[in-house]
Amino acid sequence: MAAVELSHVGKRFGNVVAVRDFSLRTSDGEFVVLVGPSGCGKTSALRMIAGLELVSEGRIRFNDRDVTDQLPRDRDVAMVFQNYALFPHLDVFSNIAFGMRLRKVPKSEVTARVERVAQTLGIEPLLHRRPRELSGGQRQRVALGRAIVREPQVFLMDEPLSNLDAALRMEMRAEIIKLQRRLGVTTFYVTHDQVEALSMGDRIVVMRNGVIQQIGTPAELYDGPANCFVAAFIGSPPMNFLDGAAQGTTVALADEAATVTLAGRARAALGNAPGRRVRLGIRPEHVALDGAQPAGAACSLPGSVEVVESLGHATLVYVRLQSERRLNVLLNGKVALRAGDAVRASFAPEHIYLFDAESEQALQGVAG
Ligand SMILES: Nc1ncnc2c1ncn2[C@@H]1O[C@H](COP(=O)(O)OP(=O)(O)O)[C@@H](O)[C@H]1O
Ligand SMILES: [Mg+2]
Repeated sequence: MAAVELSHVGKRFGNVVAVRDFSLRTSDGEFVVLVGPSGCGKTSALRMIAGLELVSEGRIRFNDRDVTDQLPRDRDVAMVFQNYALFPHLDVFSNIAFGMRLRKVPKSEVTARVERVAQTLGIEPLLHRRPRELSGGQRQRVALGRAIVREPQVFLMDEPLSNLDAALRMEMRAEIIKLQRRLGVTTFYVTHDQVEALSMGDRIVVMRNGVIQQIGTPAELYDGPANCFVAAFIGSPPMNFLDGAAQGTTVALADEAATVTLAGRARAALGNAPGRRVRLGIRPEHVALDGAQPAGAACSLPGSVEVVESLGHATLVYVRLQSERRLNVLLNGKVALRAGDAVRASFAPEHIYLFDAESEQALQGVAG
């Protein structure tokens, strides 16, 4: 098992910069998730760790051993892909045993290791089936089996669950976490799904256009997003943004004909910057809809209900503000609101995230 370090790693394909100045050091046994929209460089980063892609610049080390110029087979990593990549003409046993047979591992050891892995993954009854005789979830387990049977230094998983339906994805998510904890192998897991990232990662690396936006635990990313991109990407439905101008300890929202009173962290972050253009971020779960401004609220914005979506345990309400801007509001349980109702949206000062409107960087810094 290995701690993995990437220092200033970059990848260019001709004119395309896929990954830029990527630096990260894992601890041994850590579960790191790379997340970001399609095309942001996740797969390229993973393939460079695997050695399947040469780096354009920077170094990669496993336990302080420089592996940058090593071939994939010398790095001792195992990779799981979205499309399973099983051999269709081989049964499950032979698919899992394939790598060991190539390396001329003695037959009795191959059998013992395949059986142990099959037991771990609950696929013993399937060992003599071909891939086409398996469900998607079973195939994914076999692909995992093929990776873990190698007992590698590092696991690399590239969107391994995206071909599965929602229920199976949740089940496999939990199984992968359990498995990784038990095996204690440092793991890089790629996904474009922020829910998956938040639920699985010890730490999450948020990427955009090849550039790391922020590295942090799920709580650090949720509580202290470094910029508007991370703020909008982490959390569902996404954070609301309102632009305004600083006026003492308040922010004037010209478009809503309203003023927001800051307090605590956001007020300290704003400092004394009259006229500064700022962006307020408010998560949907922190907005209340009432007739009047509740005591202690930062403001009360008039609007009207546009759509009400029941999620069972919660209700999602889209409110059209005076500026025509849409506000996502997530309320607990069921609500009596209907489209067309006049409402006032309010939120508490401690739930305001503050960004610079030009740079889109957080003004309150990364919270602990
Ligand atoms: N082999 C390649 N040749 C040229 N461009 C590539 C190649 N692989 C990836 N890219 C480009 O690099 C960028 C990052 O791609 P990728 O790492 O696959 O992103 P992700 O996995 O986050 O979707 C994209 O713009 C993609 O088109
Ligand atoms: Mg990819």
